[in-house]
Amino acid sequence: MTISSGATSPIGATDGFRRGNSFFEDYGIWKEAPLLIGTTQFDPLPDVKNIMITGGAGFIACWLVRHLTLTYPHAYNIVSFDKLDYCSSLNNTRILNDRRNFTFYQGDVTNPSEVLDCLERYNIDTVFHFAAQSHVDLSFGNSYGFTHTNVYGTHVLLESAKKVGVRRFIHVSTDEVYGEVKDDDDDLLESSILAPTNPYAASKAAAEMLVHSYQKSFKLPAIIVRSNNVYGPHQYPEKIIPKFACLLARRKPVVLHGDGSPTRRYLYAADAADAFDTILHRGQLGQVYNVGSHDEISNIALCRKLLGIMNIIPETDGHMGEQNGSSSNNNNHHNGTPPTTDSLFSRWVKYTHDRPFNDHRYAVDATKLKQLGWVQKTGLETGLRATVEWYRLFGERWWGDISKVLSPFPVVAGMEVLSDSEPVSDTPQGPEVRAERGVEGKKGKGVVAVEGGRKGNGVNGWNGWDGRNGFEEED
Ligand SMILES: NC(=O)c1ccc[n+]([C@@H]2O[C@H](COP(=O)([O-])OP(=O)(O)OC[C@H]3O[C@@H](n4cnc5c(N)ncnc54)[C@H](O)[C@@H]3O)[C@@H](O)[C@H]2O)c1
Repeated sequence: MTISSGATSPIGATDGFRRGNSFFEDYGIWKEAPLLIGTTQFDPLPDVKNIMITGGAGFIACWLVRHLTLTYPHAYNIVSFDKLDYCSSLNNTRILNDRRNFTFYQGDVTNPSEVLDCLERYNIDTVFHFAAQSHVDLSFGNSYGFTHTNVYGTHVLLESAKKVGVRRFIHVSTDEVYGEVKDDDDDLLESSILAPTNPYAASKAAAEMLVHSYQKSFKLPAIIVRSNNVYGPHQYPEKIIPKFACLLARRKPVVLHGDGSPTRRYLYAADAADAFDTILHRGQLGQVYNVGSHDEISNIALCRKLLGIMNIIPETDGHMGEQNGSSSNNNNHHNGTPPTTDSLFSRWVKYTHDRPFNDHRYAVDATKLKQLGWVQKTGLETGLRATVEWYRLFGERWWGDISKVLSPFPVVAGMEVLSDSEPVSDTPQGPEVRAERGVEGKKGKGVVAVEGGRKGNGVNGWNGWDGRNGFEEED
């Protein structure tokens, strides 16, 4: 492995990197952990040699970094480029440190000289851009930081990639750019309009606009990937699955936002790594690909599953009735018998206020990716069991002290994570009349598409997101 750092950056005491806190001390925990990668393998591409993966010390990207480094040791050199933000860990890739084809570069995507230095120093021909502020909850309070990293950072990367003439720029976006999807709506194709509802999703949609503009104006060879939620080992415990697994492992109750009814689709990280590997090798430049799981579950049903897997509440317990989280069941707890009547459940599941706006659900159609040969291999049950076990063994030590991030709405100040002190209740908060909500930006009010180019075959090979007209506010 080679280790590099941005030219203008002071080198810190630990590990040769800036930032002398415990997250980055090498106390050897990674040696105890299983080596986790995806399963796909393709014939290497002749025009790909040096791949830069931004955000490589974060959750999803570290899976791809490990996967590509170890699956293609003689074909590809992998450069993990990461700022080492509060949610990252070098433990995520330390297992690669003795690999000749792996390099870690500590740099910030919002710093043009660091980005350019990395691209030129390692003769990068392919970029996977994962680095982002990724936690929706934080984006309500620190939205400038999200715009800075996710929009400006993407702009810096695009401009630098243009300068050096990369051959592939794979931009990692999210299903959240589509906004909320109603229970009875069809799964969204890549040609659907973008209608983000929170600052995080808006920053990701804005980044996509820049990617598209560089593709059009400068013929930058780009692909956009919109994935639904990914979960699994190596995810900083600020997101629901690792946070709840860690809380329950501590035998502490979990705290749901609102009434716990929003659903999400979850994809195991190994399947996500396979999706990115497939898109690298088989994806077409200029296209958008959804990455979608068939496992959809409400937050409250997810709690029940975790409680069952961790043997805290018997999995066969008849309450809740939400084993698969199907939308028809999602309203059980606020229409019928509330889960809080189940004393066991209410001992372990508490509630606090909801996000300012919480999309009820997302739903993308991944047919286009499946046509490239990708399949989801890990179901939620299997993936959750593996995840819970990993957090039981490593969750308390992987990132140092995680106590503060386990609160319902932690706050991040610079590199520091602070606990909140939100009121917690035994009963669901802020029941919503979903029927009244409609789905703004899809078919109703709010953000609408203009002049076509949203549905259908798209324009100029960009598969439906023309981008020329932008969005237009409906009166
Ligand atoms: N986690 C999900 O469920 C999910 C779903 C869909 C899309 N995504 C997207 O996938 C990508 C990765 O998400 P994740 O959950 O793995 O994120 P993460 O928060 O675990 O990791 C983000 C990484 O980016 C790095 N980073 C942040 N700002 C940086 C900067 N300015 N310069 C360099 N590095 C920086 C961090 O240090 C961290 O290692 C993001 O773009 C996110 O929007 C995530």
